[in-house]
Amino acid sequence: MPKFYLTTPLYYANARPHVGSAYTTLVCDTLARYRRMCGDDVAFLTGTDEHGENIERAAARLGISPAELVDRNCQMFRALWQQLGIAYTHFVRTTEARHVHTVQTMLRRARQRGYVYKGVYRGRYCIHDNLYVSDSEEPSDCPTCGRPAELMSEENYFFRLSAFQQPLLEHYERHPEFIQPAFRRNEVIRFVSDGLKDISISRRSIHWGIPWPDDPEHVFYVWYDALSGYLTGIGFAESNGQGGEFARYWPADVHMIGKEILRFHAVYWPAFLMAAELPLPRTIFAHGWLLFEQQKMSKSKGNVAYCEPIIELLGSDALRYYLLREVVFGQDGNFSHEALVTRYNSDLANDLGNLASRTLTMLARYCAGQVPEPGPAGPAEAELAATAAASLQAYRQAFDQFAFSRGLEAIWQLVTHANQYLVETQPWTLAGDPASQPRLASVLYAAAEALRILAVLLAPVLPRATSRLWQLLGQSGHPEQIRLETLSWGGLRPGTRTGPAEPLFPRVEKSQILERMAAMEDQIRQNTGAPAAPATPTASGPSRITIDDFARVDMRVGEIRAAEPVPGTDRLLRLQVDIGSEMRQVVAGIAGSYRPEELIGRRVVVVVNLEPRRLRGVESNGMIVAATRPDGSPVLCTFTEDVPLGARLK
Ligand code: MSP
Repeated sequence: MPKFYLTTPLYYANARPHVGSAYTTLVCDTLARYRRMCGDDVAFLTGTDEHGENIERAAARLGISPAELVDRNCQMFRALWQQLGIAYTHFVRTTEARHVHTVQTMLRRARQRGYVYKGVYRGRYCIHDNLYVSDSEEPSDCPTCGRPAELMSEENYFFRLSAFQQPLLEHYERHPEFIQPAFRRNEVIRFVSDGLKDISISRRSIHWGIPWPDDPEHVFYVWYDALSGYLTGIGFAESNGQGGEFARYWPADVHMIGKEILRFHAVYWPAFLMAAELPLPRTIFAHGWLLFEQQKMSKSKGNVAYCEPIIELLGSDALRYYLLREVVFGQDGNFSHEALVTRYNSDLANDLGNLASRTLTMLARYCAGQVPEPGPAGPAEAELAATAAASLQAYRQAFDQFAFSRGLEAIWQLVTHANQYLVETQPWTLAGDPASQPRLASVLYAAAEALRILAVLLAPVLPRATSRLWQLLGQSGHPEQIRLETLSWGGLRPGTRTGPAEPLFPRVEKSQILERMAAMEDQIRQNTGAPAAPATPTASGPSRITIDDFARVDMRVGEIRAAEPVPGTDRLLRLQVDIGSEMRQVVAGIAGSYRPEELIGRRVVVVVNLEPRRLRGVESNGMIVAATRPDGSPVLCTFTEDVPLGARLK
């Protein structure tokens, strides 16, 4: 049996997963199920990336330990994967003991071959994306999130990435399938051709990480750590890279990732592997972003949609179908609740759901709940059978090329044809005419057979609904047990008992569902933003908080360096505030009381550890403290004596 090893990225366990984080996992789950139906022995790995500065900071913000935070968040990921029906076979957490072994072994191997040395790192680093933004000390913004990168300088261990420029270019040349889609491959080739600098792979300023062998003051750079998780997850440590599951599944067949992490996967990762003399993955596929409100859906930007309301109101299959059908895989695509509900009603409830319920109703009513023995097949049946064969072929071709939306379009050719077939053959009219019984049997057999084939084709995308449909068609087991190369027209056995018609996808009232989804989203947002420990209510008067609760609010002295109105509002100003360690962009509702120019140079109090959010499309990364007059106008809090920038208020 050929093997197929597929991975999702290992998700940062610093926040709750959202639709964007679920996207890659849903795609991989679909692909894993599809490959199994092609006869492969599939290993499907997902997991969580649990080290690094942003985890340390997120934990500090909540007043808990990093270990507690990652336990909690990892649990949230697992729970969501379960709700979404993700059938992964392997799960890895980068805080597991076996992973420490992998990372240290990788390092030792690279060191033995002379690819690691000690040096001084000076440069700009984005703590949000764990990205070395520039090796110069000049201020610069993170290319991924756009926030100012922090300045840092420390003694580090370096990886000789520069030694791999040629070997990497040769590999890209010899293996055109290594980086996909092709336009991404070209981007990477251009980047590497411009020259590669050595990279720092240890940190001294961070404690929450894997200790460096023989020098425990350093921990591993998170990307060296996280990427090696692809080895740990299939048992590298257990077999020391020699046998067992690891030898069976490595190298990975596909690392599925979002485009923002392509450089780590297509440049660093193969170099780390070559340095350790391990074979390289076959394909790295970088897909586009799900956009929400015109921007990448992302927790740090505050524009996320959550999966849970969708699962509860429409079911996990609906989300899977929508994402795979609506977004051309590889390109960016918009996510909208409205489009989701529209697709659900039109494609799932109407097209597929109606085909199933009409067919099952007629089997129950006219054939006593049994698949009839078909009479002779006419041209209409031959055409339907031909469409089924063509759909199967086009679907396989598309899925083999990761063109999921095209694959679903091919399947919908069969759904549409089967519905038309029923309209044209009118079995409900045939049923009233005793002489037409053989014809009726042929028609209902053909409709049921089309449904059976659809259940198989759609199983990777709609595992729950197709499993139910399979039962209703009287089939045993699960449609995913069918091998695609054995699937052909005529496999349905006459005499099989069929079940009652039931709506696989009940139609929903759009505006009502959208309202309910929005209310549920708000609820999640409130819970997510709420402090870890609730304020203790007292018998009389307002509730009190403890000093620890107060300590969780990080307020700093800042100075306003720039101010301008936010277009389209008369209340908001976009401020650039220097808080000593960095410049923060804050949007404040003070335009009614202050003119931008009178704010420049003013010292203010900034809450610096609030979750970023977007106001009128502009990111606000903190809050300026102000009191309110009786007429509602704000008065900024300020200092009358000298106080250094960045000083903490307590
Ligand atoms: N921890 C690293 C990956 C290490 S892999 C060894 C990381 N984690 S992440 O939590 O930020 O998640 C990254 C992945 O989530 C992206 O590469 C992408 O696959 C998925 N997505 C997160 N937001 C997304 C969108 N808005 N749209 C599409 N995919 C998104 O990077």
